[in-house]
Amino acid sequence: MIKQDLVAERVAIETYREMVRYFGEKDPTSRILLERILAPEEEHANDMHDLLVAHEGRPDAGEVVASVIIRIESFRLLPQP
Ligand SMILES: [Fe+2]
Repeated sequence: MIKQDLVAERVAIETYREMVRYFGEKDPTSRILLERILAPEEEHANDMHDLLVAHEGRPDAGEVVASVIIRIESFRLLPQP
């Protein structure tokens, strides 16, 4: 469960980072808003990582990263509005 939460946090982080890059200087207000949302998500991911280490020892980073990539790629394949 903690590992799934960590994966979800990292998917959210990568999505927000992508949106920050997208808005860049074209829309700084939206970019700043997303950066403010992103910061606590990074803290959540760090908390999940620390919990996982406390419960299971060092997490398998490769497995977590692979899960994040698969979920992001699956999301991109969904029909866009
Ligand atoms: Fe979060």
